[in-house]
This record gives sequence, structure tokens and C-alpha cells, in this order.
Amino acid sequence: MKIILAVTGCIGAYKSAVVLRLLQKEGFEILPVMTQAAQQFITPLTLEKLSGHKVVSDLFSDHTVQIEHIHLARESHLLLVAPATANILAKFAQGIADDFLSTLYLSTVTPVIVAPAMNVEMWHHKATRKNLEILRERGVEVVEPGSGYLACGEEGEGRLAEPEHILEAVLNTFRREKSLLGKRVLITAGPTIEDLDPVRFISNRSSGKMGYALAGEAQSRGAQVVLVSGPTQLEPPEGVNLVRVRSASEMAKAVFQHFARSDVVVMAAAVSDFTPANVSSEKIKKKDAKPVIHLEKTVDILKRLGQRKEWQFVVGFAAESGAVRENARRKLQEKGLDLIVGNDISPQDQGFESDFNQVIVIDSDGKEEEFPLLPKTDVARILWDKIETRCAQRAANRRPQTVDHIPQTG
Ligand code: CTP
Repeated sequence: MKIILAVTGCIGAYKSAVVLRLLQKEGFEILPVMTQAAQQFITPLTLEKLSGHKVVSDLFSDHTVQIEHIHLARESHLLLVAPATANILAKFAQGIADDFLSTLYLSTVTPVIVAPAMNVEMWHHKATRKNLEILRERGVEVVEPGSGYLACGEEGEGRLAEPEHILEAVLNTFRREKSLLGKRVLITAGPTIEDLDPVRFISNRSSGKMGYALAGEAQSRGAQVVLVSGPTQLEPPEGVNLVRVRSASEMAKAVFQHFARSDVVVMAAAVSDFTPANVSSEKIKKKDAKPVIHLEKTVDILKRLGQRKEWQFVVGFAAESGAVRENARRKLQEKGLDLIVGNDISPQDQGFESDFNQVIVIDSDGKEEEFPLLPKTDVARILWDKIETRCAQRAANRRPQTVDHIPQTG
């Protein structure tokens, strides 16, 4: 397996030699790439001697192959940028291709991991936050920097992650790749909209970000993904089968239709619990209407799935504004689920509209694990790792016991 190790210009560049060595110990072949700025911090000779390959850094230098960046992109199985400066993150996010590495990124179809390193203010700057959000949405994995004394003399976040953490991210990426190949996955996302008349409706604040992140992650692991989505502003991950719905009853219909052909179902949608008893085809005029809306309950889709499931692994969410653990445990039982993900939607930084989520995951054996506040794309990775582990355990339990002793007859 070949990994492109790209080094950009910042003080953490010296650690790239350690990363290179750790990857080699795991049996990877390293193809080194450096930006011009990186060469101010360590010499290409260091990476050349360690890797046994020429360092590529120039779009127009004398290469043996004609279009080097395309050739390199095709030859490798992963692009790792460590350290990644704010500048290269911005170029990747915006698609600027003005040097070898940024051009290489645009030609890359393999997984991409970036390990940022920069000054603490640069790390927290809105421009960097936005660029990271764009990259994460695109499936790029970000190895979060550590905290501590920085080269600029300040303290805070921005130090390149430890080489061992970067190695772990690489190993996990290869472990996950195609781990869901052949699996059929059904995911719901977003809010539902319950119309009152042609103008007014009842809905909720769900952005759909968690469900879309789950769909993207499942897709990148090789699953066939059906994403049943309420109205959102999001671009669906490439390759998923998107089924757009509006109301809770449309979502129920689409989910029940695909359920029989699914191996795993994840209900991340914020389904409306109530719908107006009567929908007016004309705009309700204020002089005609009493200020009362009669509502009726919608179908609890997830509960139905819990009752109907055979081989399917069914996962639900519990969006709570308090007593998350208790409510999640109750919903796991009441809806007959294999796994539930509880989250507190009241704090602004982890609510429906946020890019972050803080979850507690509880399985049907009652085991729970709580995670810190993380980007929703990272939560998606954690959840699929958990789902895969639980599915594997279940399959192992179902397998017939091996017979070590066959009784002799006669
Ligand atoms: N859900 C569903 N159908 C509904 C309502 C909810 O399938 N009509 C699913 C959601 O997608 C989620 C889980 O049930 O996976 C829990 O949803 P949540 O809104 O947290 O709980 P409710 O069951 O609606 O209960 P409550 O609103 O009282 O907390």
C-alpha cells in the first residue's frame, strides 16, 4: 500500500519524519511531497533518504512521467497531509490549484487525511473553521491538533497532533475502507414538514447534517445507501440514492418501502410527532379561522421498524433537552432498538443546526459510551464503527457452535 505523505511549511514539519517512520513500520510505502515553504523547515533530502523516493514539490520540474500529479494520485492509496497549514486547507477547500500539492489534491480520488498545525488564533479564525467544515463535508478526515506551547510563543490549540495519533487515523481509514461492502443501509435525515394550508406549516429545526454525515460515511465504506430526507439545504453525498420526502407520512411510506431490502436502518430524522387533522387547500383567512389548530399523532416509524425487524439492525436517535440517558434508555426499550444515540439538543453549539454533536451511545445489552463534543462527521465514523462491531458480535452469536466431538454410534 502506498501513502502520499505531503508536508507543508510550518514548524511541525520536522515531525513528518517520525510519521514517515511509523507508517513504514506498518508496512506502507511512502511517496513524499513537499511544498516550497516546507523546505524552509526540513530538507527534501531527509524525506528522500527515509522513504527511498524522490520528493516531488514542483509542478514543472523535470519528471520522468508526463503529468506527475495525476500519476502520483493514481498510484497511491491515501493522501496524508501532515502538517497541514491554514494556507493549504484554504486551497483544498476552495479548489485552488497553484502548486504541486494543491493540484495533486484535486486529482485525488482516495481518502484524504489532514493533520493541521498553526497558531491558535489562526486555528480558531472563522475562515479556517469554514474551510475545515467544507473539507469535512467532502469526506476529508481531520486529525485535530493538540494543545500546548506553540512555536509563536503562545499557548493553546494548534500543535500538530502526535505522530502516533496520525498513524492511528491512517490505520483506521484502511480498516474502515469497504467494511460495509455489500451492505444495504437505509438512513433518514432532516425535518418533516406538516402543511396547514398552502402557506403555513409545522416543522422543526433539524438541519439534516447528522443524517447526511452518516450517509456519506456509509457510502465511503462501500455500502449501498438509501437516504430518505426531509427538506434540507444540504448537498447529498455522491452515490447515495436520495429519496426526497416532505411530511412524516411520506417519510413513513418511503422507509417502509425500503425496509425489507435493508441490513441496517438509522433513523436520524426529526420526524414530526403531530400533524394537522385537516389541511386546507386554500389559504386560511384570519377572519374565518379560530386560533386553534387540531392535531393528530403521526405514525412512530421507528417503533414500527422495531416491531417488524427480522435480520435488520435498527438504530434510533433520542433528541432531548434534558435527562438524555434516561430518555434514551426508555426509547431503546419501547421502540425495540439495537442501538440508540442520545443527544442534548438544547446547547446552541450542539443543537440541530450545529456542525457538532455530543452523544451517548447505548446498545441493547445496556452498555453505554459517552463521547465529547465532536464534529458530526466524526460522530458518524464513531457510530458506524459501533454498528459494525455490534453487527459482527450478533453474527458470531448466531453462528452454529463448532462440533469438536462427534459421538460414535454402533
Ligand atoms: N421517530 C420516528 N417517528 C416518529 C417520531 C420519531 O421514527 N413519528 C424516531 C426518530 O427518528 C428518532 C426516534 O424516533 O430516531 C426518537 O425520536 P424523538 O423525537 O427523540 O422521540 P419521540 O419518540 O418522538 O418522543 P418525544 O418527542 O416524546 O421525546
